[in-house]
Order: sequence, then C-alpha cells, then structure tokens
Amino acid sequence: MCGIVGYIGKRQAQDILLPGLKRLEYRGYDSSGIAIILPEKNTISVRKSPGKIRCLERLIKSKPLSGGVGIAHTRWATHGAPTKANAHPHTDCNNEIALVHNGIIENYETIKEQLIREGHIFHSQTDTEVIVHLIEKFYKNIPLEEALRKALRLLIGSFAVGVISTKEPNKLVGARSGSPLILGIGEGENFLASDAPVVLDATKDFIFLDENEVAVLAKDSFKIMDFDGKTVFKDKVRINWDIAQAQKNGYPHFMLKEINEQPKIIENLLNARINKETKKINFEEQNIPEENLKNIKNIFIVACGTAYHAGIVGKYIFESLCSIPAQIDVSSEFRYRDLLIDSNTLVIAISQSGETADTLAGIREAKKRGAQVIAICNVLGSTLTRESDGIIYTHAGPEIGVASTKAYTAQLTALYLFAFYLAGIRSVLPSSKINKYLCELRKIPKQMEAVLKEQGVIAKLSRKHANLGSFLYLGRNINYPSALEGALKLKEISYIPAEGYAAGEMKHGPIALIDEYRAVVCIAPWSKVYEKMISNIQEIRSRKGKIIAIASHNDKEIKELTGEVIYIPKTDEIFSPLLVVLPLQLIAYHIATKRACDVDQPRNLAKSVTVE
Ligand code: F6R
Repeated sequence: MCGIVGYIGKRQAQDILLPGLKRLEYRGYDSSGIAIILPEKNTISVRKSPGKIRCLERLIKSKPLSGGVGIAHTRWATHGAPTKANAHPHTDCNNEIALVHNGIIENYETIKEQLIREGHIFHSQTDTEVIVHLIEKFYKNIPLEEALRKALRLLIGSFAVGVISTKEPNKLVGARSGSPLILGIGEGENFLASDAPVVLDATKDFIFLDENEVAVLAKDSFKIMDFDGKTVFKDKVRINWDIAQAQKNGYPHFMLKEINEQPKIIENLLNARINKETKKINFEEQNIPEENLKNIKNIFIVACGTAYHAGIVGKYIFESLCSIPAQIDVSSEFRYRDLLIDSNTLVIAISQSGETADTLAGIREAKKRGAQVIAICNVLGSTLTRESDGIIYTHAGPEIGVASTKAYTAQLTALYLFAFYLAGIRSVLPSSKINKYLCELRKIPKQMEAVLKEQGVIAKLSRKHANLGSFLYLGRNINYPSALEGALKLKEISYIPAEGYAAGEMKHGPIALIDEYRAVVCIAPWSKVYEKMISNIQEIRSRKGKIIAIASHNDKEIKELTGEVIYIPKTDEIFSPLLVVLPLQLIAYHIATKRACDVDQPRNLAKSVTVE
C-alpha cells in the first residue's frame, strides 16, 4: 500500500527521500512523488511521476531540489487512476502546504463539495486532496499541527499523513489514525516513515505513533500530542535489524534471498526460544499469565493470505498437540461475524506486518468480547503488537519480497513452539514426548538446507512447466494448507491461475479440470494420509494430468507413478509443512522468472494491506 517518507535535517532531503522511496517499493505502488521546501525562495517544489521510482529519479536528476525539509510518497491507487495529477504530494491552492497520505478518506466527497463551494480548487480525483485544502482552511494564525488536528477531526477513514509548509519551513508534521507511521530519531535530523527499514541506514532509534497521535519534528527535536493537543511522552525503541538484511546480498530478487534465509531464521528462532539445558520454551513478550492459558476453552486464529495458511496449520497443531478446539477465519470474515467468543477464548492473530487492517479490526472485535489476544508478528512495535495482550515475535528480519516466504515458515515455527508450550502448561503431553518432538523440530533447519541444495533440479523442472495454462495443488490433512499456500504463491507472482484444494475434494469438482494442459502439484510426503494421496495421483494419471509430486526421500512408489518428483527429507508428519513449502516457493519463483514477471513487486499487490 502507499508509503510515506519525510525528512528534516542537515542533509539534502532528496538524498534521503529518494532512497527511502526505493525501500518502500516492496509495499506495491503505481506512482510516486516528492515535495521539498526550497529555502532560498521559501517555496514548495513538487516532482511527481506515474510508474516506477526511476521515472521520478530521472525527473529529479534533471532538476535537483535543494533543501533540508521534504516529504515523499509511493501511491497505490484507490481513488483515481495512477496518473501524475493523482500522485502525492498534493498541495493547497497557494502552494504553501504539501501533504502525503496513506489510507482512505471515506467521507471525502461531501468535504470536497463543501470546499469547492468555499472556493478551493482541486487538481486530482483523490480522496487525499481534501486534507490539504482543509488544512489550508484552518491554517490562520495557528501552528501547522493545530490546523492539521482540526482537519483530521473532520475525516472518517484511515490515514497516516506527512505535511510541510512554507509558513513554518523548519517543521515536519505527521499524524496517524488507522495507518502506520513511525518517527526515526537521528542526530541533527529526524524522519517520518511508514516502516523502519525505510530509514534504517540513517538511524536505529524509532518512535511508533499510536492511533490519533500527531508528531511535530524539527531537525533537533520532536514532540508528540494526541488529537486534542495533549502532549504524549513515548520511549524510543531500538531496532537492531541490519540494513544488509534489507538488501539483496547478491541474489537477483529479494524473494529468492528470503527463501534461502529460511534455515538460518528457523535455527535462530529455535535457539532463542528453547533453553538448551532445561528444554523449556520461552517467549519474552508473551504476557498472558500461564494460569489464564491453562483455563482457555478454545482457540480462534485470525489472519489473511499466507498468514492465514500458517493459521490453518496452527489449527491442526493445536487440536492434535494441545487437545484444544481451534477454529480459523480470514480476518475480513471474522470481523463481521456474530462471534461466539468470550474470556475463555484465546485469539491468535498472525501477521507478518502487524498492520493488516482486517486483522487489526478482528482483534479489536475479539477484545470487545473479552477474549485474550496473542499476536504472532514479525514487525517490532507494529500496531498489532501494541494492541495484543501477548506477543510472539517471529524474528524473520525485514521481508521485502511482496510474496511472503520466510515470514510463513517463521510463523509456523512460532505456532509449533507455542503449541508445545501450551501442551506443557496444560499437562496434555508428557515432557518426554514434547522433548522428542523438539528434537525432531531442531533437525528442520538442516533438512531445509538439504531441500535448498536441490534448487537447480527444482528450477529446471519448474521452468519446463512455465507455459501451462493453470495449476492445481492438492494436499491432505496438515498439508492441505500447504496446497493453498503453493497455489497462492504461484498466482501472486506468475499470474497463472492456480487453485489449492484438499485432495479429498478432488472428486467433488476439480477432477473435471484435469487434462494434459494442466499441472497438478501433489503434496505427498510420508504421513497417515499418504495412501490416499497415492490414490489421487493414480486418478490424475489416468486422466493424463501432468503431475509434480513432493514426496519423502526414497519414495520409490511415487517415482514409478510420475517421473517428476521433488524429494524432501523424512520428518514427523506434523512438521512436514515446514519442508514441503520450500519446493512450493521455488516452483512459483522459477515459473515466474521464466515468464519474466516482477517477482518482488507483482502487479496490483501490496506488501502491507493497511486498508479494508
Ligand atoms: C502472500 C502475502 C499476503 C499476506 C497477507 C497478510 O504472499 O504476502 O497474502 O500474507 O496480506 O499480511 P500480513 O501477514 O502482513 O498480515
């Protein structure tokens, strides 16, 4: 979704804002722009362009902007096409104020009509432009932040904004309500950004704005207030992510780099969470008392997209390891249901970004009903983590590729660990059994490495199928969500229609699709449903479907049924989703690159879906 970066300080703002915009690219965008206060003339200069940041970069190179205060934006169109006029920043009638916005203003039409009646001139079709004209209306003998607060009070919707004005040229103002915004605190310079990696090379100290807060930045100071103007004191948070983690490190794409990071991330997670001597599992920010967790009667998991697929695996795990009934919903459904949950329900919200609008709305509904909420999240200080009762960080590092890969396996690992922790405190599994499982889980990083060593073979096989018209992914039991995830990865980045199905459902419809033009990816590692998958494979074979099987090492039976087998090491079936997903990610990646698709920034997709 849209991204914001703002700068005030000793350096040339364009030198911070342009690289910042490039680091926001991963969120998905279709146009970009920048506004800087030119100190010599005390005017605002704006450059905007549809398309990639490099178009904007070219514009700025030909006419550089000199000044130390500015704002910039990547736009993901909601209201109005991705044109130059609709790109942000937007300015007021006198070109004295410039503003960037992430979110949606739901009541913009009525406000716009009123402002037009009052004589304001609009230049775009965006909802955003009303904000800058509202500020203009109120900005009479009061500070910019006060005019902004007055404007924001009239808005319905979600927003994070950054504003500058020539009337107060040494000030950068930001505000949030519903969309993320953080402050980066440097020496002799301060930053506004949608997320931390944007300015991580300049500072590691951040302040996370909460709902309905306004920040006023100067180059050597900052202050924060609520929408009523009351000062709010907040602590800085140090983020120790390395900027190298947010770069490609020699890989052609972030996605491939992130796929290859998975063994290390899982190993680090296991090392950090499992005490080597006592074998006790610890979650430092999991603040829900053990006593409460002992007494919960059911679990409800909420998440979107890939995180939702991790959640389905979670459902199987909690029911099988902890003997607790577990349900799962996509957040956009959960939030509007008549939820039968109460204080005996534990809601687990899974989100890489911690900013997904539907997931946030879901946990707010859950909390209203008294449920306790645990967030499984990757982004430190994100809204989800601040609104949940307990947090389990996945510590996967910044995920830049729009298609989620390493966040998924980190989410799965967090779910396994939490299930063992819960099974232990509820005394439903003996510790000897838990330790046996943990031993098996500890083997996963090495086993992942073994799968990744076969990348060449997987790439060759995948490219061979890159021209097929559609794909079906089949899995059963705990690998049913793996089928959904495999299909999602492929459709997201290669645009090939792909469906994931529970293999048992094949006869209830999808079998009609099978012919020699369609590939069927059959997920069939060793498990209690292995024989059932073999039957599926037989049925597909007799209808001439092209089968790609994912099977456990040394499975000769499958090899006889289909020549195209990707092998994964043997593990307890409960952990197999962690291994199975690697070939699925690689298949999607290699098919997409063969089709020359933009794998890191697929069309129409945004990394962080901050609006409904
Ligand atoms: C898929 C993908 C999306 C996200 C979904 C939820 O590859 O990345 O489906 O999983 O938008 O995002 P988070 O996890 O940030 O809540």
